Amino acid sequence: MNNSFRLKNNRFIQAYSLIIVITFLGCNSSSQNSDSTIAEHENEKSNLVSNEITVIINGHSKNYSLNDLKKFRETKIKNYEAIGGMKGPLGVNTWTGVSLIELLMDVDPSVNDQNNSDKQIVLTSIDDWFAVIKWPELFGEPRGGEVLYNIVGCNECHGINGEGTAPADHPPTPELINQNYDLKDVMEILRLGEESHANINPFTPDQLSESELQEILYWLNNPKAPVPENAFKVDPTKRKVILAYEMNGNKMTGADGLIQLIVEMDEFSSRYSHWVSRIEVK
Ligand code: HEC
Repeated sequence: MNNSFRLKNNRFIQAYSLIIVITFLGCNSSSQNSDSTIAEHENEKSNLVSNEITVIINGHSKNYSLNDLKKFRETKIKNYEAIGGMKGPLGVNTWTGVSLIELLMDVDPSVNDQNNSDKQIVLTSIDDWFAVIKWPELFGEPRGGEVLYNIVGCNECHGINGEGTAPADHPPTPELINQNYDLKDVMEILRLGEESHANINPFTPDQLSESELQEILYWLNNPKAPVPENAFKVDPTKRKVILAYEMNGNKMTGADGLIQLIVEMDEFSSRYSHWVSRIEVK
């Protein structure tokens, strides 16, 4: 089983477990800071925590304890609120942690070299959740539909490259890449949401405008085409990606995750990971 299959599989199971947890168990009111309800639920059973991280880049590997992370410059993401596909807005929080860029540069100072631009940064948590960040999102100038696709959370179920998912015990998510989708058809599915779209909340015009979806579909329909001149650009003030160890000035405990990934450009919670314990650039 290769990693990308496990990635798809895990994310899909997470997404469906979330539906099940919400439907049958109800939500824990203290868990407003995360959409990863299944992860929180598991935590109640097994007291998961992550106090160290292994970072692997081009054969270099380094371990960091929580205390080692605190020796880096502190980076804050202020008043951040992610939207969960099922739960909606998840609550506003200020996060403090280490910048992912600084951590990666500490392991391999050449990680920002342009010849790594096809690589992905894969962050794995101890509950097996994977989050993937494409190199240009961290070190380049993230632009166009490929980036918007992650910002609004399509990656969570349809895969980081729109490849679709096909886990054994669940209905598959369709492959979205290279399908020649029509804007009106897809807009309708997303605006209706619910049973039209895998029980996901409808995407409101505020969360996903028609022109944003047009850019996403332009990329999905023409993945090899150059990004158009006037394409969407990530706001330079929203480029922080951190591994947080403090929430609202307080040390985090169990259910909050001790080392939590926050991607400031993301509007949806698709990469909002608890308990990150391994980071690999590959
Ligand atoms: C929580 C999981 C989830 C998220 C998030 C999600 N999808 Fe889906 N999507 C599905 C599933 C499952 C299906 C197939 C079942 C269905 O159509 O109800 C689907 C179906 C679709 C289809 C229909 C495909 C076809 O060929 O029939 C399109 C198009 C689509 N999604 C686009 C998107 C886009 C664009 C986004 C982001 C804005 C997105 N989805 C976000 C799970 C998701």
